Amino acid sequence: MAIDGAVFRQLCGRFPTGVVVITTTMNDGRPVGMTANSFTSVSLEPPLVSVNVDHHAAMHCHMAGAQRFAINILESRQEALSRRFAEEHPDRFDGVGYRLSEGGLPLLDGALAILECARHTAFEAGDHTIVIGEVTGGQVGEGRPLLYYRGGYYDLPA
Ligand SMILES: Cc1cc2nc3c(=O)[nH]c(=O)nc-3n(C[C@H](O)[C@H](O)[C@H](O)COP(=O)(O)O)c2cc1C
Repeated sequence: MAIDGAVFRQLCGRFPTGVVVITTTMNDGRPVGMTANSFTSVSLEPPLVSVNVDHHAAMHCHMAGAQRFAINILESRQEALSRRFAEEHPDRFDGVGYRLSEGGLPLLDGALAILECARHTAFEAGDHTIVIGEVTGGQVGEGRPLLYYRGGYYDLPA
C-alpha cells in the first residue's frame, strides 16, 4: 500500500535542498533546460552525480538523447531563473545570460557552480528516470546557494 501523494510531498518537502538547472542542447543545437532539486552526488571514483527527471517533462526526451549535460547550481539571487526553467515558456533562455562551453553546453551566467557531465547510465524508477552523469569538468562561482524548502525559496543568513 503506497502512501497518500499529498502526505508524501509533505514529508519530502521537509528536506531542504539546493536548486539546479539542468541544461543541454537539442538535436538542432538550441539550448534547453529544466529546474530540478533532485540533484545529488553519487560516487567519488569515478565522479558521478544524478538527477531525477519526470517522464512527463519535456526535458525527459531531450535528456534521453543527450550524451552531455550541465548542472547549474543556482545562486541565492537566481530565484527568477528557477521559476523560469520550471514554467511553460516558448523559449526559457529568452533574455537569460549564458555562454556555451567548449563542448557546446549552455552554462548559466551567475551560477554558484557548474558541473559538466557525460551521460553514464540511467535507471527507470516509477514515473521518473534517474540520470547518472560522469563529471568531466566544472567551475565555481561566487555567492551563496539558493535553497528550497517546503515549496519556498530561502537564502543562507549572510
Ligand atoms: C524547485 C523545483 C525543483 C524541481 N525539481 C524537479 C526534479 O528534480 N525533477 C523533475 O523532473 N522536475 C522537477 N521540477 C519540475 C520541473 O522543473 C517542471 O515540472 C518542468 O520544467 C515542467 O516543464 P516541461 O514539461 O516543459 O519540462 C522542479 C521544479 C521546481 C520549481
